[in-house]
Amino acid sequence: MRIDVVTIFPDYLAPLREALLGKAIDRGLLEVAVHDLRGWTHDVHKAVDDSPYGGGPGMVMKPQVWGDALDAVCASPGAGAPQDTDTPPRLVVPTPSGRPFTQAVAEEYAEEPWLVFACGRYEGIDQRVIDDAARRMPVDEVSIGDYVLVGGEVAVMVIVEAVARLLPGVLGNPASAKQDSFSASLSGLLEGPSYTRPEVWRDLAVPDVLRSGNHAAIERWRRDTALERTFARRPELLDDAELDAADRAVLDR
Ligand code: ADE
Repeated sequence: MRIDVVTIFPDYLAPLREALLGKAIDRGLLEVAVHDLRGWTHDVHKAVDDSPYGGGPGMVMKPQVWGDALDAVCASPGAGAPQDTDTPPRLVVPTPSGRPFTQAVAEEYAEEPWLVFACGRYEGIDQRVIDDAARRMPVDEVSIGDYVLVGGEVAVMVIVEAVARLLPGVLGNPASAKQDSFSASLSGLLEGPSYTRPEVWRDLAVPDVLRSGNHAAIERWRRDTALERTFARRPELLDDAELDAADRAVLDR
């Protein structure tokens, strides 16, 4: 997969080259290019923002600069993107007013060969930049949660990490991603608790069933704790979960 990020703070994205993602880049599973938006400014001050039409606080990012940046970045695919076709990338614009970024969206993005991220700052990017890009490529405005960050950079790191770990070969054990919270194999539930050695720590014992060797009982216990935890913390997830009679009995307790 090829990922391009356009930002006024390229150094902010440096952690993308650390740890698991760094290894994925080294192994050629992921290619990441970060571009400085100010490289497409036209004035000595390298201005990227201006005051909003209609008044109000804050500044809006200028369409000319973003338009030129996206024209350039979206026209020159790197080695990880399909170069033999005219297929454009999928453009992702993080914004608190976007549609929610979920595990299902991460799974969708993981199927894409090429993603371009546009990091807004201030009060956001002139809407015409998004409307214009949407004439040529799929564009998603996405939010990582109901809170407001100072810019899209941290949201991009969250999204890239969630997507990259789903790429084939990135996780040491591919079964880990299959059993994640929110995943289809967990029926969209939260994962229950996990334990490792020692058996007793600060007088707290590991649940007996996990040491029983009874695999059916362990599976049932995992399912039960996932159901109980989801009910306690995120009951709305149960609305869409596929539950059988045994599951319903747990929730009725
Ligand atoms: N930019 C600022 N806040 C954001 C959020 N919650 N999600 C995505 N991008 C953002």
